[in-house]
Amino acid sequence: MDTKDKILTAHQRQIWLSHLLARVGYDTRLGRLLRLGAYYMDAFIMLKAWTAFLNVRWQAIGNKFYAVDQAIMHADHADVKALMQTQPQWRGNDLGIIRILAPSYLLGHPLSLGMNGTEHTGVRAVFTRTLPDPIQQTTTIAPLIEQRLTQAATQGQLHIGKDLPRMMVWILHQLVFQIELSEADITASNAYVDGLVLASLPDFISKYLLAFKTAPHIRHRQQMVDRYQQTPIWSSYRETAAPYDLQGATIANSLFDMVHIAGTAGTSALLGSVIGVLCLNEGLRSQVIAEINQVWTGTELPTGAALEQASLLQKVILETARLYPPVRFVSQLAQAPGEVVIGNSKCPFQQGTRLLGSIFTANRDAAKYRNPDQFDLNRDFTDLLSWNGTDHERVCPGRALSIGIIQLFCFYLFKHYQWNDWTAVEWDFEKVTAVTPNNLILQGFTRRS
Ligand code: HEM
Repeated sequence: MDTKDKILTAHQRQIWLSHLLARVGYDTRLGRLLRLGAYYMDAFIMLKAWTAFLNVRWQAIGNKFYAVDQAIMHADHADVKALMQTQPQWRGNDLGIIRILAPSYLLGHPLSLGMNGTEHTGVRAVFTRTLPDPIQQTTTIAPLIEQRLTQAATQGQLHIGKDLPRMMVWILHQLVFQIELSEADITASNAYVDGLVLASLPDFISKYLLAFKTAPHIRHRQQMVDRYQQTPIWSSYRETAAPYDLQGATIANSLFDMVHIAGTAGTSALLGSVIGVLCLNEGLRSQVIAEINQVWTGTELPTGAALEQASLLQKVILETARLYPPVRFVSQLAQAPGEVVIGNSKCPFQQGTRLLGSIFTANRDAAKYRNPDQFDLNRDFTDLLSWNGTDHERVCPGRALSIGIIQLFCFYLFKHYQWNDWTAVEWDFEKVTAVTPNNLILQGFTRRS
């Protein structure tokens, strides 16, 4: 059976399963077991062919189709946007498409994405308190980026998949907690993020059978959340959280996820893609460098005004985020049972069914974006979904900061550094990895004299 057949045959089973679940119960022991089977069966195909999985089902079945644990995937821009804007949302402890089935990996704390009501409003208030405004605080952020780039220059190369996440986790800890991570801390933090998939296995497997893999990650998380609570700035975060009655451990764990998963993984992937796009397109690279030279002399620290004036670079970041969104899926739960048309079938769904939005396909929806697979800076970016849209309770709180950090990286990279060659720029649209040219290396990477 070829991949397309496998993708469609597995979907046929999902249709059949929707009727079966209506009979045996969605959340009964049997219902949960059946859904778990479907989850791993689809996940197994997706791990090796994630874009084919989405595109084949989108084209053959329609804008709504089943995926993983009987979740209803929404593929086009209009539906994904409408899903994102649902308020209030009801969430389960899911990281996009990944179900967190091993709470032990997160020390028993939910992701902020999985929180609801006051608890969620409270952690959002803390996130906003901790994240610097890149326009107001450019001179705080810029030297941190320069420091990490100087260090990379001593090793003579910049490896996109390996070095950027290391730099980002160090920078974000400096910004949020004013703490300096050692090289060993950075290695442990990045290993934690790389091991996240282990949280998607049932708890007894993840915690006990795979303890040789998970125990060091869990220990590192515990050490970091303890350390956060001893920083001088911690009391001000507690103060922000006080009206919401949040425990210290809840705040520290949410901040661990904010820095590691949302901040480091998302921003380093997008930065890597921006560097990849600029490596491939020499004309655009020259225009971006000309703009940087125009807004920044390079002798003093860049200002917030310079970031605002670098509008071409901003558009490059937005268009790159459209084509290569670091976050591929958003997830929420159906608040009431109903019926949904999937392909030619009317299928029942139950309260609690996962509703997934596929940012990747929405961003390449031809009904929204002309020639959607082409890089084009003359687009209207007001409706871009890559940071979870705009104007609602679940938008990415790190949007401005991530764009500012990437701008500053580009400022320094192109003004103060040079490289004499680079390896192939390739995004992997088959195996599930970060959406970034992971293997790209800028060779002969040095600081300009
Ligand atoms: C400084 C860097 C970043 C930080 C600190 C950050 C922080 C966060 C946090 C804390 C959340 C959870 C919000 C909640 O629970 O309500 C979130 C959600 C999200 N972020 Fe970011 N983020 C960053 C960069 C990015 C980047 C670069 C992207 C993609 C271009 C991105 C896309 C998203 C999306 C799509 C969500 C919604 C996920 C969902 O609802 O399932 N973020 N971000």
